[in-house]
Amino acid sequence: MSAAEIATVIDRRYRKFMESLLIKGGVPLHGEVTVSGAKNAVLPIMAATLLTSEPCVIHRVPNLSDVKFMGQILTSLGARVAFAGGTLRIQARKIRGVGDYDLIRRMRGSVCIMGPLLGRLKQATVSLPGGCVIGARPINLHLKGFEALGAKITIACGYVRAAAKQLTGADLFLGGRAGSTVLGTANVMMAATLAEGVTVIESAACEPEVVDLACFLNAMGAQITGAGSPTIAITGVKELHGAEHEVIPDRIEAATYAIAAAATNGEITIKGARPDHLHAVMDKLNAAGVRVERRGADLMICRHGRLKSVDVTTLPYSGFPTDAQAQMMALMTLSPGISIITERIFESRFMHVSELARLGADIEIEGPSAIVKGGKPLSGAPVMASDLRASAALVIAGLAAKGTTQVNRVYHLDRGYENIDRKLRRLGARIERMEET
Ligand code: EPZ
Repeated sequence: MSAAEIATVIDRRYRKFMESLLIKGGVPLHGEVTVSGAKNAVLPIMAATLLTSEPCVIHRVPNLSDVKFMGQILTSLGARVAFAGGTLRIQARKIRGVGDYDLIRRMRGSVCIMGPLLGRLKQATVSLPGGCVIGARPINLHLKGFEALGAKITIACGYVRAAAKQLTGADLFLGGRAGSTVLGTANVMMAATLAEGVTVIESAACEPEVVDLACFLNAMGAQITGAGSPTIAITGVKELHGAEHEVIPDRIEAATYAIAAAATNGEITIKGARPDHLHAVMDKLNAAGVRVERRGADLMICRHGRLKSVDVTTLPYSGFPTDAQAQMMALMTLSPGISIITERIFESRFMHVSELARLGADIEIEGPSAIVKGGKPLSGAPVMASDLRASAALVIAGLAAKGTTQVNRVYHLDRGYENIDRKLRRLGARIERMEET
């Protein structure tokens, strides 16, 4: 690459890094919004394509920077990846077991390539995923699962390596400090598909994204039962083949739009959602005085009068999702009264609190809980996004606030929300993307 080309790439990346959203608040959202495919389902499904040398086709893939990133990681392992019109075509004909240190280190979700590499090649080496702003996020449970299947784990020079002559099915308990682990369950499940014999995972994660992954693996010829329950059984097979699959809709994106409609006193229809994945969120919105109606696969959301304060505690699925905690907190800043939001999954997932305070919110942190004294009108201000869901909360607060809010570093949002500013504009929001000056 010439110096000029490198300069262009750096400049483009810098501009993307410097993008922000300008929101003029106070407009009730109205109209329809269609949910995209689920980020947290498509990432492990992309990794699962490493389990076979045959082509795989995945539909309803959201156009997100995390998806592009996972595509780069698969390419660095030797796979061919093509993405067009919401469809991914991946073929991992010949692959190597060592991932690119820098690429993997930059996206936590990429740890889920370990299971497929270990399953297929009997060895996997990746850079240790560091912590992130929401918590330490160790992978001890993933490694415990691999060891139970007979792998030897070594950690050196920033790399973690799992290797085994062969993998053998085993019974294992995968519960940890905060209960089950989503990507830990996914990783061990994928490795076990090509192990000798039967593996039984107890305290498995029950998230819909784990079920969607198991569906894809079974379409590839795996034998998995019990996905969606705390006990998953995997009967190992000799090899897996290519498959075609449509990813489930993103329940966290749906929850985010529902909460935005409630925060702006609007009325919207969310199309293409899976209401059966959203019970805990709908229950809390109902309790807060928001009308949530199912119409087939669509959800109708509208607020009836004043919001009511509700307490929320995040839990593994089917409890209230930690990925909707920040958005719900933004809503509770608008509701007169006290609400207590308790985060039980990640130890430091309150980065949005100080930024919401810039908009005039009154929130105090007490250990794992945030005490929200709501009801005071918010007013627009420049705020800084720190992580994906915190930035969604700042957008919601900005839509409800008087005046103009500038949300900086929106690259966090682009990791998990497809065209969020365009979708919100279609709902009547006064929002535009701009390069920070
Ligand atoms: C997945 O992360 C999601 N990411 C997260 O979404 C989501 O917040 C999380 O599940 C919980 O629902 C993807 O699917 C890509 P965990 P994951 O392992 O699997 C502890 C978003 O905003 N733990 O279920 O990494 C861990 O520290 C992202 O889209 C261990 O102690 O989360 C945490 O406290 C953010 N040891 C808890 O378990 C382990 O080996 C749950 O983490 C693994 C996890």
